[in-house]
Amino acid sequence: MRAGRFKTLRRAAQHEALKLPAASQSPPPAARDPALAGRFGPRILALADQLAALSESRDGLTCTYLADAHRAAAAQLCEWMRDAGMANEIDAVGNVVGRYAGSQPAGPTLIVGSHYDTVRNAGKYDGRLGILVAIAVIDDLNRAQHRLPFAIEVIGFAEEEGVRFSSAYLGSSAVAGRFDLQALQARDASGVTLQAAMRGAGLDPDAIPRLARDPKALLGYVEVHIEQGPVLLQEGLPLGIVSSIAGALRLAISIRGEAGHAGTVPMPMRHDAAAAAAEIVLLVERRCAAVPDLVGTVGMLTVPEGVPNVIPGQCELSIDMRSPDEAALRAAVADVMAEIGLVGARRGVRIETRELLRTPPVPCSPRLQAQLADAIARCGLPVRNLVSGAGHDAVMFHGLTEVGMLFVRCGNGGISHSPLESVSAADADLAARALREFLLHSGTVA
Ligand code: HGY
Ligand code: MN
Ligand code: MN
Repeated sequence: MRAGRFKTLRRAAQHEALKLPAASQSPPPAARDPALAGRFGPRILALADQLAALSESRDGLTCTYLADAHRAAAAQLCEWMRDAGMANEIDAVGNVVGRYAGSQPAGPTLIVGSHYDTVRNAGKYDGRLGILVAIAVIDDLNRAQHRLPFAIEVIGFAEEEGVRFSSAYLGSSAVAGRFDLQALQARDASGVTLQAAMRGAGLDPDAIPRLARDPKALLGYVEVHIEQGPVLLQEGLPLGIVSSIAGALRLAISIRGEAGHAGTVPMPMRHDAAAAAAEIVLLVERRCAAVPDLVGTVGMLTVPEGVPNVIPGQCELSIDMRSPDEAALRAAVADVMAEIGLVGARRGVRIETRELLRTPPVPCSPRLQAQLADAIARCGLPVRNLVSGAGHDAVMFHGLTEVGMLFVRCGNGGISHSPLESVSAADADLAARALREFLLHSGTVA
């Protein structure tokens, strides 16, 4: 559906706001109310299971941008948002947007979102948990006919991981008015451009600029997300508050050496692209291991059409480096790039680098951190602030509106981006109760 449709829906929602049922008189039960315990968790996990069944691969969960499974997941989220009382639609870039009108038609909007695309062979909760927790809480408010003095937009962002088109944050960057239109020419592994894939899915790339939200109309951006790390698990805490999100740099590296016969070219005469890549993998690891909180990963490494008896003339790899400390990240990137240059010169191979993503470290709003802390405390839980090493859609909203994130404990040692990713129903329940508490008691203060 076109973005204009969304405007129609928004007007509809505002008209709906005009004839809203009076806010419920009886205040909703407090977060510690035993009646609330377990109200949300089991259902959230059941919906996550249902969503995870929509996969483009037979074994495991893979749901990349605009694949059939991804479109089915969007339709499923639409249905759940509608059932929860939200006016909703799929916008021009494929985000699933549900709007829960506030009691004041001209009031501000709080965005509560996360992503529904996944990496390959993913876990069920990365991104999705945040959308499902928000839907469960809105459903609860809607059933109680409770309206807040601000509207809530629950957004399932269509593409955060950057798997199919290697450009991340397509969904949230569009809503934040930061979509890079050049990305439309990016091609996937089969040569399909992003633009063609969008049109093929019935989306309208021309309407993307109109998705940008007016920052003046925003109360803030809040994201519930699994921690994707071991800290909360090690400290026995179900929830945490993100203090800042690490900065990230993602590069594509292409190495061109000289193919040759594996049996006849003497070693000193070789220009082996894969051997150069191997040096790069180790120099990234060595440089990043030297500094606390700095991480570096080569997640993709391929010898296109490689065969055992040919010296690799070509090698493609990725580099992903992150740190919450911008200066440390910048210094490490400079060192790695310098060393890559030396590898190329020494081995007589040509090395080209292309920047895929660069996001600075993002500090979360002290106001939203305090309000989330207040909500967690109201649930009778200890408060723990922590840095996010993972990137999130929240980074796209920094500078546009205040950004806050609520982390949920991961089981299985904190593993993520893996089928072993796990969240307990009890923790999902606490996350929903904390978000509900935040919306009822502290999200209202602009
Ligand atoms: O890579 C990340 O940090 C996120 O999962 N996209
Ligand atoms: Mn992820
Ligand atoms: Mn994520």
